[in-house]
Amino acid sequence: VKSIAVLTSGGDSQGMNAAVRAVVRSALYHGLEVFAVQRGYQGLINDDIRPMDLRSVGDIIQRGGTILQTARCKEFLTPEGQQKGADNLRKRGIDGLVVIGGDGSYQGANKLSKLGIRTMGLPGTIDNDIPFTDFTIGFDTAVSIVVDAINKLRDTMTSHERSSVVEVMGRHCGDIALYAGLASGAEAILVPEVELDVHDVADRMSDNFRHGKRHSIILVAEGAGTGEDIAAQITARNGIEPRVTVLGHIQRGGAPTHNDRILASRLGDFAVRKLIEGDSGKALGLVNNELVATDINTVVNTKKPFNMNLYDLAMRLSQ
Ligand code: F6P
Repeated sequence: VKSIAVLTSGGDSQGMNAAVRAVVRSALYHGLEVFAVQRGYQGLINDDIRPMDLRSVGDIIQRGGTILQTARCKEFLTPEGQQKGADNLRKRGIDGLVVIGGDGSYQGANKLSKLGIRTMGLPGTIDNDIPFTDFTIGFDTAVSIVVDAINKLRDTMTSHERSSVVEVMGRHCGDIALYAGLASGAEAILVPEVELDVHDVADRMSDNFRHGKRHSIILVAEGAGTGEDIAAQITARNGIEPRVTVLGHIQRGGAPTHNDRILASRLGDFAVRKLIEGDSGKALGLVNNELVATDINTVVNTKKPFNMNLYDLAMRLSQ
């Protein structure tokens, strides 16, 4: 390849900017021409593509969001949309594309690679729902935000001897709830991957209060129910009225942690090197601290396994 482009797609995540910076700077270092596509696949269809230089990615490694902006683009799900995108790249002589995004973005990259564009996918999502990588870019920051929020909630819950239900993001994947729950000593963690009877959670809560516990934190991934709903079920069972906090999009903003910046930098550089080698149709990740490239087709057709060991540990330690 002589010329590549980079885009961010789907829900944004902290560290996307660090990944864009790494792709651009690594491409320039290796003597490639590099372009940015604005607003994800929508920009690809609309031909919103501009050349990048060293300075276009200055002062962004520490910023949340994505300077390239992002979109969830329905038109790109159609063969016509995909063809238009591929044509817009080709007419500029761009033969490689790095897509930074989640599952939906990988599906698009897969299609483009079948149309002959060399593609590399980088896992950019707070959800940590992409298989063949231990972590996705943004997950570490999102978990830190949740843990920080729970620290604050705990102060006031303890003063009042109250219970808190905290709803976090994750429609299909409970990793944010799991990691934040383990890191903050949550009493129960409700995730889409594990069946849990809310009555048991409520009974345990009243037992714990009877035995001297002064606060209780219940974490709910949005895919396992709404915070309001879970709190209502708890009240109906044990009469305790938990306060509900929905952290929402706060989890997707703010400066990325050093872990996310380093992950993004390593994967962005790896993507460029894989394209230079002539590889295509790969989703990149870090497994046991090793950079790995997996067929994007395999990645989009595999569900990330849930870490039951961590879940059991969290439950054992939160008596
Ligand atoms: O995929 C990332 C994510 O933040 C999910 O955790 C959440 O369910 C969804 O995006 C929210 O989407 P939107 O920003 O479109 O409301």
